[in-house]
Amino acid sequence: MAATESRLLDPTAVAEEQLQEGHGETPGREDSLRPRRLADYIGQSELKQVLGIAVAATRSRGEALDHVLLHGPPGLGKTTMALVLAQELGVRCRITSAPALERPRDIIGLLVNLQAHEVLFIDEIHRLNRVAEELLYPAMEDYRLDLTVGKGTTARTRSLPIAPFTLVGATTRAGALSSPLRDRFGLIQRLEFYELEDLQAIVVRAAGLLRLQLEVDAALEVARRCRGTPRIANRLLRRVRDVASVQGHEHIGVELVQEALSLHRVDDRGLDASDRRLLTLMLEGYGGGPVGLETLAAGLGEDPTTLETVIEPFLLQQGLLQRTPRGRLVTAAGRAHLGWPVQQAA
Ligand code: ADE
Repeated sequence: MAATESRLLDPTAVAEEQLQEGHGETPGREDSLRPRRLADYIGQSELKQVLGIAVAATRSRGEALDHVLLHGPPGLGKTTMALVLAQELGVRCRITSAPALERPRDIIGLLVNLQAHEVLFIDEIHRLNRVAEELLYPAMEDYRLDLTVGKGTTARTRSLPIAPFTLVGATTRAGALSSPLRDRFGLIQRLEFYELEDLQAIVVRAAGLLRLQLEVDAALEVARRCRGTPRIANRLLRRVRDVASVQGHEHIGVELVQEALSLHRVDDRGLDASDRRLLTLMLEGYGGGPVGLETLAAGLGEDPTTLETVIEPFLLQQGLLQRTPRGRLVTAAGRAHLGWPVQQAA
């Protein structure tokens, strides 16, 4: 039921709770490895700086933090950052996602139960329906709910005050947000793919938490292969751990990482089977492009939005794919990576 999917979370207890329930983008497994404080959050330095200042200023004024919109590809730490913000503010974080807020009462229930300065995290916020979105406007702006009571000619609007709170919205598609909603966020931050050294540090940290003896070079190898994404890094690390334990290795070195990740069809640049399938289709079916998103999605049997928000961003960032007004194009680097001749025969 939608209402029960919205859960009350104490950031310090989030791991246990999510392990029991599992929820949307954040399976419980991930939580034991999440940083809890800003100081433990590796990478995204601009984001940390901006939010660190906002948190400190807010705390000193004794107010609710301004609403925060986090956007960017999946797996880069949007949910983690919402939990970190709540921890830094010393408040609880309620986590939900837009598809769980189907009926007006789902969002009303959440808003009226908020305590002062708490964080409400709404994942996939671009998927909010119009009614929910319109209920949010006065809630965000004036900490007020405008409710319609009665029907037809007797319908009246009643305003209900709610506690000052912070909405943290997350989306992989900032462009899909309506401007009235986007304009109500005081802080809008994009999460970027992580630098190699940051990913290596994240893997070293995770290996420590999982009590693995992972060589520094082996951590770098995982970092190279995780599509710039901590969630994938941690997932790959668990797969490496499986191979190590099955083969009886206490120490994990580079070769073991390479062996384990080849088994999972992750190549030396971190591309997975879906990435290669896309590039291969473009090269084999369309001479490398330009070719339209819809055509590619149909050819791969993927949803165009998934292609655009999950698969493409990393390939674009790596310079293996290019977006042009006439469609997507495999770059020379993309061709080279798949072992295709860079200059096509005339
Ligand atoms: N685990 C996943 N993401 C992380 C991050 N940004 N910093 C530290 N540990 C992480």
